[in-house]
Amino acid sequence: MDKKKIGKNIGKAVDILMYVILFVQMIYVFTGNVVHEVLGVGFFVCLVAHLVIKRKYLLGLWRFRNKSAVRKTADIATILLTIVSAVMIFSSMGVSRTLFPWFRLMGYTDLHVYLATAVLALAVFHGGMKGYMMAKKKKRAAVFIALGCIASVAVGLALVPYLNRHFKIVSISRSEAVNGEKVEWKGSKPLVVYFTRMGNTDFEDNVDAVSGASLLLADGELTGSNKLLADMIENTIGCDVNAITLTGEKYPSSYGDTVSVAGRELRQKARPAIEPIDASGYDTVILIYPLWWGTVPMPVATFLESSDLGGKELYLIATQGSSGYGSSVDDIENMAKEANVHKVMSIYCDDIPNSRGAIAEWLKEANK
Ligand SMILES: Cc1cc2nc3c(=O)[nH]c(=O)nc-3n(C[C@H](O)[C@H](O)[C@H](O)COP(=O)(O)O)c2cc1C
Repeated sequence: MDKKKIGKNIGKAVDILMYVILFVQMIYVFTGNVVHEVLGVGFFVCLVAHLVIKRKYLLGLWRFRNKSAVRKTADIATILLTIVSAVMIFSSMGVSRTLFPWFRLMGYTDLHVYLATAVLALAVFHGGMKGYMMAKKKKRAAVFIALGCIASVAVGLALVPYLNRHFKIVSISRSEAVNGEKVEWKGSKPLVVYFTRMGNTDFEDNVDAVSGASLLLADGELTGSNKLLADMIENTIGCDVNAITLTGEKYPSSYGDTVSVAGRELRQKARPAIEPIDASGYDTVILIYPLWWGTVPMPVATFLESSDLGGKELYLIATQGSSGYGSSVDDIENMAKEANVHKVMSIYCDDIPNSRGAIAEWLKEANK
């Protein structure tokens, strides 16, 4: 292969790599912060390589005379893309926690997200214009470019914030969330058993470094959202509460890693060891669990299978990021065959802090 061809192929590979990195960067809530930052450096290296490879073209960008309108548009977009990419790289360093914690310029997450969105949309436009100039069916190519740009903006402005909302920390007032109307429970009081990431995860000391699905900061203290629900029930009827707590290895701090570990446990039908919970003195158990991979987390399966729940009323409260109950109710019925299983409610994670009223209403109904 001659030198020119090799250079062209390297250029193409770098271009593709940059698009792949940009896409993966958009779903950083799943990849975790370290991967995001390392890939950011990778993007910077690719950008420099791209600029070096395309240096002749870049130098010609500024001469607009005798260029067609299409060419001019493409070139303006390329100049913008280069400038916005450079600013975005600065903003990346400003929000860096791992690789550049000492760099404090432009450290605004929102700004970083907007710049990243602009880079994605301009990159799609930039690549699209190349295709447009070669395409025979210009109208169709134009529609594709427009759709690609709209999709990029939607990803940056809607999808990424949506993911953030689900997977970032939310601050609340514990007393406002938990305290409220008291309900008289007739007969023997239920035992509340809950599972949450808090207490079962090796979180870093620095709360800001934690990226976790619907993690809550209640009065500045990191708390599991399922624990908050348990506290609400306790505050309403004054009952015993028990957490399902791992005795062995905890889940990793990163949300993405926890998802991977939980997926592996589910496939392997793992039953991680937990601290014993004695439900023998209770007729009623209220089980609060997050949906993991559409069912109960495996430590909850351990609890269900290792406890004698025969003849007891087992009330289920699931929390989730969109899946309702998934297959959890059927799975629980299989794991606690002798229990009388009742669905209570499946709560969308964003709504958890505001569920005190619904919980009290249900407790009134359940104990009529
Ligand atoms: C490992 C893992 C898997 C999850 N899988 C699902 C799922 O399949 N469907 C869903 O709607 N939400 C899923 N979620 C979101 C959680 O159910 C939701 O954020 C829950 O409120 C977390 O409660 P916690 O903060 O008390 O641990 C998952 C979360 C984790 C950490």
